[in-house]
Amino acid sequence: MYSEKVMDHFSNPRNVGEIENPSGVGTVGNAKCGDIMRMYLDIDENKTITDVKFKTFGCGAAVATSSMATELVKGKTVDEALQVTNKAVMEALDGLPPVKVHCSLLAEEAIHAALWDYSQKNDITIDGLEKPVNDISEKEEEEEY
Ligand code: FES
Repeated sequence: MYSEKVMDHFSNPRNVGEIENPSGVGTVGNAKCGDIMRMYLDIDENKTITDVKFKTFGCGAAVATSSMATELVKGKTVDEALQVTNKAVMEALDGLPPVKVHCSLLAEEAIHAALWDYSQKNDITIDGLEKPVNDISEKEEEEEY
């Protein structure tokens, strides 16, 4: 049911943990399944993400997608990181079962929330970045699955 890559990132997640005094931190949850994700970013003066860590209280697919998402945004600029969609994360993992697609949104939204925190703290505008929601299940209802 799960690809080898999903199993690998679930059993052996990359970048788990916390960053002290991060440049940006974001927490999002999904009230429907009760899962929560927190993402920490360190961003240098060139707006490049130099470090990223995550913590999750979530399902296996949430762990695997967050792990892959951290790998994809590390070393990228904040603008490039914004382009890392949940679809890109799923592709990098060789897909997810349809019922688990929503889990990948948690990772994408947590990155956006951390970028938002960074932009607010530094008075920076990141084009295309919207104010994050705390509960992504509100957003899901607007989208079709
Ligand atoms: Fe909630 Fe996967 S079931 S994030």
